[in-house]
Amino acid sequence: MMKHETVIQLLQSKHGEYISGETISQRLGVSRTAIWKQIRKLEEAGYVIEASRKLGYRLISVPDTYDLAALQDKLQTVSFGRGLQLLDTVESTQILAREAAESGAAEGALFLAEQQLGGRGRMGRGWISPRGKGIWMSMVLRPAVPIHFAPQLTLLTAVALCRSLKRTTSLAIGIKWPNDLLIEGKKISGILLESAAEDERLRYVIAGIGISVNLEEADYPSELLEKAVSLRMAGGKSWDRSELLADFLMEWEQLYRLYAKEGFGPIITLWEALAVSLGKPVRLTTPQGELSGVPIGLAESGAIRIKLEDGSVQSVFSAEMGEPL
Ligand code: BTN
Repeated sequence: MMKHETVIQLLQSKHGEYISGETISQRLGVSRTAIWKQIRKLEEAGYVIEASRKLGYRLISVPDTYDLAALQDKLQTVSFGRGLQLLDTVESTQILAREAAESGAAEGALFLAEQQLGGRGRMGRGWISPRGKGIWMSMVLRPAVPIHFAPQLTLLTAVALCRSLKRTTSLAIGIKWPNDLLIEGKKISGILLESAAEDERLRYVIAGIGISVNLEEADYPSELLEKAVSLRMAGGKSWDRSELLADFLMEWEQLYRLYAKEGFGPIITLWEALAVSLGKPVRLTTPQGELSGVPIGLAESGAIRIKLEDGSVQSVFSAEMGEPL
């Protein structure tokens, strides 16, 4: 029996040239409406197809999808990213990682999705996670530290991500307290750590990381374009997500081990070397109200140390950091 051709095979065979709806219809023996439906499905799956009333259809680009075997091949870690679960569409990888942690998943269990429909950001915000364009992941950590050390893990994660992305992309990336990674003032990634504790002890931490790798302007709502950017928009080229991920996991695991052995001191030094928010006046919106001053460094607790106008130094644990008025 002859193997049936598919719409995508026909489009691909034209190498970017148009193929008319009529030709597709004849070759596949289906109606024009059926073709249109299949084209819509392909678009939903991330294919970019141009349609012209006169000329028909042409394939502009195919979606970038992870290759699980190739990704596993690239991993050089002991536990981070081992037991990797690659998913297509999820609500949020945070949910899956939490369920796995509750069922006893080991440290390093990683959930990686092509797209998230309900990506979660900090402070109840959402997180844009279009298909195939970024690294949307959540990993289970089981650190042997008390709950009040959790902010240190957030800062450690930001340091690892910043060091790794600087190395792999050569872009000028800095950290804005506590854990936003910025290129020329615009955010390229987000880190969300959610912990579960019992009697002051951390049972587990779900580390959610979003890296805006190959997003284009059209992927962002216009109001976000002032504040957010992707590596592709900043660097003018696409990046291989598996390579970025494998390098980050290695850096992250190394720093996590260093932290387990030597505590937070070395992480403070590394964080301060990458920080873009030190030495410049800022305004902080804290749960207790507004505060103006100059950030001068990190405290052992993970708080930011702010020099106030009267010369005194105050540690701030949780705040939104903005430009002075
Ligand atoms: C932030 O607001 O800066 C944090 C954003 C964290 C987004 C990541 S994407 C993978 C994981 N799953 C989610 O729903 N959120 C985190």
